[in-house]
Amino acid sequence: MKVVVLGAAGGIGQALSLLLKTQLPAGTELSLYDVAPVVPGVAVDLSHIPTDVKVKGFGKDDLATALTGADIVLIPAGVPRKPGMDRSDLFNINAGIVKNLVDAIADNCPDACTCIITNPVNTTVAIAAEALKAKGVYNKNKLFGVTTLDVIRSETFVAELHGLNAANVHVPVIGGHSGTTILPLLSQVEGVSFTDEQVASLTTRIQNAGTEVVEAKAGGGSATLSMGHAAARFCLSLVSAMKGDNVVEYTYVQVDSDDAAFFAHPVRLGVNGVEEILPYGELSAFEQKAKEDMLEGLRGDIKIGVEFVNG
Ligand SMILES: NC(=O)c1ccc[n+]([C@@H]2O[C@H](COP(=O)([O-])OP(=O)(O)OC[C@H]3O[C@@H](n4cnc5c(N)ncnc54)[C@H](O)[C@@H]3O)[C@@H](O)[C@H]2O)c1
Repeated sequence: MKVVVLGAAGGIGQALSLLLKTQLPAGTELSLYDVAPVVPGVAVDLSHIPTDVKVKGFGKDDLATALTGADIVLIPAGVPRKPGMDRSDLFNINAGIVKNLVDAIADNCPDACTCIITNPVNTTVAIAAEALKAKGVYNKNKLFGVTTLDVIRSETFVAELHGLNAANVHVPVIGGHSGTTILPLLSQVEGVSFTDEQVASLTTRIQNAGTEVVEAKAGGGSATLSMGHAAARFCLSLVSAMKGDNVVEYTYVQVDSDDAAFFAHPVRLGVNGVEEILPYGELSAFEQKAKEDMLEGLRGDIKIGVEFVNG
């Protein structure tokens, strides 16, 4: 199996590549690409870790070689937020970066599973879909927006609040990946109950958790280490599924529902990417209202992506 990280020299890219070098199954090839000249050095550095994962670094002129033969491509390339910005402020720079990288995926490894981390994810996934469609190689089962960070944050915060081991807490998170489009389903957390005040404050904290990191880093970027962990978890789940294991992850995928064209659902992963989009179950009155209130914004974010590619 071959896994490619595009934007591998960045904050997320380096953390993610480290976790993949140490956790991917033996025999996997790990291909690291970035426009930053340090990327071959990142690959050499990682290559000294004694695991049976072969790491290669590729600079800006070698995108095609980096991608050829890929089974999974993870994209954290682009600029992160600074204090005062929301994810949509990144659109002007990141939209073009994602479009160009996805065009190269279409040309060099059209059958790969593509996992978009670059923000604004609500929009960049739509850009990727349209770019793949324009090249005639779009497969909705192989395009994912990585929303795993919202899941792990929710699990951590719920565990903290209730004094539980976070490893045993599972929190569904549906919708999109910015502000109120992030919708944790606290009513579905097994074995735990919340007061109405706790639901309201925890939901807001989960929705603003990225901003917590951006402000704490004070201009030094956004979440990189927790995001590296989240993306590694998603990638490793996909690798297991592609080898035949039964795995479910929450991820932002194309759906056939009245919600929006893309929506994070529980998804059963398999050898061909999405095996089955599972229903997200019954919502509480609070969650139902939160969903209805955010749908227009999410649909608008998706429309911006579609229009970016199609004019
Ligand atoms: N999905 C999520 O939950 C989530 C969470 C946190 C951050 N992010 C997003 O991930 C992205 C990366 O964040 P970061 O903190 O790693 O940023 P960073 O600036 O540390 O790293 C970005 C890397 O992308 C590279 N890059 C830029 N243009 C490129 C191109 N055309 N091809 C290849 N590489 C290119 C840069 O050289 C840099 O190494 C941002 O858009 C950020 O908003 C997403």
